[in-house]
Amino acid sequence: MSQIDLKSSRALVLPDAPKASDPQRVRIGRMVIAALWLMLIAYRLGLDHGPHFRNSSALPDAQPLVLPKIHIIPTVTTGLGWIPTGLPTPQALPSVNPFAAVRTATGPLGRPQGKAFDWGDFGHDVMKRFWDDWIGHVIQPQFDAVPLPPHPYPLPSPPPPLYPEYYALPPDQILPDLTFPPDFLFGWATAAQQYEGAVQTDGRGPSVWDWTSRFPGYIADNTTADIADLGYYLYKQDLARMAALGGNAYSFSVAWSRIFPFGMKGSPVNEKGLKYYEDLVGYSRELGIEPVMTLFHWDTPLALQVEYGGFASPRIIDDYVNYAEVMFRRFNGTIRLWYTFNEPGVFCVQPGFPQNTTLPHGVSAAQYPYVCRRHLVLAHAKVYHLFKELNIQGEISYKNDDYLGIAWRRGRKEDEEAVKRHQAYYIGFFADPIHLTGDWPELVKAELPPDLLPRFSADEVELIKGTADFFAIDAYREDLISAPPGGIDACLRNRSHPAWPECVSKKDYDSSPYGWGIGEFAEPSMDWLHNSWQHIRPLLQRLNDMYPTTGGIYLTEFGFAEPHENEKPYLHQAIQDPARTHLLLSYLGEILKGIVEDGIPIKGVFAWSSVDNWEWNTGFKARFGNQFVDYSHPTLKRTFKRSAIEMSQFWKSHRAQADESVAAMSD
Ligand code: BGC
Repeated sequence: MSQIDLKSSRALVLPDAPKASDPQRVRIGRMVIAALWLMLIAYRLGLDHGPHFRNSSALPDAQPLVLPKIHIIPTVTTGLGWIPTGLPTPQALPSVNPFAAVRTATGPLGRPQGKAFDWGDFGHDVMKRFWDDWIGHVIQPQFDAVPLPPHPYPLPSPPPPLYPEYYALPPDQILPDLTFPPDFLFGWATAAQQYEGAVQTDGRGPSVWDWTSRFPGYIADNTTADIADLGYYLYKQDLARMAALGGNAYSFSVAWSRIFPFGMKGSPVNEKGLKYYEDLVGYSRELGIEPVMTLFHWDTPLALQVEYGGFASPRIIDDYVNYAEVMFRRFNGTIRLWYTFNEPGVFCVQPGFPQNTTLPHGVSAAQYPYVCRRHLVLAHAKVYHLFKELNIQGEISYKNDDYLGIAWRRGRKEDEEAVKRHQAYYIGFFADPIHLTGDWPELVKAELPPDLLPRFSADEVELIKGTADFFAIDAYREDLISAPPGGIDACLRNRSHPAWPECVSKKDYDSSPYGWGIGEFAEPSMDWLHNSWQHIRPLLQRLNDMYPTTGGIYLTEFGFAEPHENEKPYLHQAIQDPARTHLLLSYLGEILKGIVEDGIPIKGVFAWSSVDNWEWNTGFKARFGNQFVDYSHPTLKRTFKRSAIEMSQFWKSHRAQADESVAAMSD
């Protein structure tokens, strides 16, 4: 026997080397040596990596990234994989979403303005032609049944603390003496286009986003919302999961084109669309979750865009009122909190596209944002009055967004003036007319000529004034505002200044020589977003002072895109979302203090969002969910993130003793 001294096998003893005179034996000997080597390597790999060679309770290590195959499930009733297994097995996450890959070559790219389609009898065949002609291929849902989730839905064990207690308290020990009021609404928000998927199912008509997402490059990852979260079939599961977290309210939006596939007054109502929302509302109530309805969250029926340019035309007003009336009559008594519009400020400045390709004659791209505002405000006001005339139960308003602003250099006149300008040009653009005066802010009227910003008549002013029962704000952040480089006046005189007409500059770092960032920053593709917890309470106080209502104030969206979350290769990494947890818990703490210590009438909060979803132009690249959605899993499996569990712990330990909120609203 001779010892072979080869790197890692010093101890291995092999048979004597064969004699040089016997080639056959030499070959056999070599084969034996090779086989022994292979066995050795396999053995060592087993020791180092294989759970089989350790002990039976050991967990396998994380596996490299593998893209699972898509299974088509025609009918599903149980076993979707949404019940947590309890095993924290590391799972590799695929990097692409096969359900959302867009077929860029289908559908027409840009259409001439003007009447481009014959709606005929608004029949099924016409709708089919419309889909085929304008959208092209649509990815169909991989299953078509609504599975019934277990109730109560099981929650995982809480995540272990990330930091020592002297640095970060456990959620139930934060502000232990403060409690939310008994009728406080606590829940999550989603929006139809971002969540539902099943865009062509049960008679739904296309929305503008179904169309624009087909344009290569319009959505950052070239995805569509064809499938999204498939909330159309998975809403019961999602509601059950929210209920398990303690949520007592759910804010969702209705896809107008599910109710009126062609959008227009006089075109048929789609009963199946109404039925979907009835089921959702009914199930929500069954679970003790107050359903809250937004009538419009940016998804204009494409037919209206094609026919007359959507919100560029006054024709949108009657069509919207007609749609709202159907919803009011159908949901009176089951919905108590209504919003007409989500974030009109964002909606009316969404990239000139698709409006530019479908603008009616007489409306330029420069005019569009203002014309859109005018039609939207009038549509809101008319719907508000209709709500009251029909004696619909509950309250109605619309969702503002943005912030009031803080002077970057406190005490500097120019920056203080810039803050006022920002208020007038942003929240004030809608809140001043609707909540206060019936008219555009004075500052804006003084600067924008009527050919750009159409004026309201005296009758319209009367119609618009005071058409909100409560103040709603999607308060994601507060920001620092300064005068633009070169000053406000120079900007005002120069229409081609990039900041014109608002003429302010936004800063996300302070004015100290060092220039500290305003707060924890979000995912880089969401460069507008940062955690400004220290400003949220004063912001809500200021809004309530500026726009007081009898119905109080709701934080209708708040949330965070965890930095680089979508790049995390493993599920256990992706569900660890400390930055989002910081934001949600610090906002909740500030809100609690705002209610108890400052007496701000905050009535409810809705985190954005219950699950990851399709983030408009960013596609699936940014995630906002408190639950992770595996877009590659055949059932779009949801997994609670840390933030969901910690938020739930905070709420459950700070809500009024018996959660009477829904009961109070049902009385
Ligand atoms: C919108 C949501 C959006 C969220 C995050 C909100 O302004 O209402 O639709 O997903 O911001 O960007």
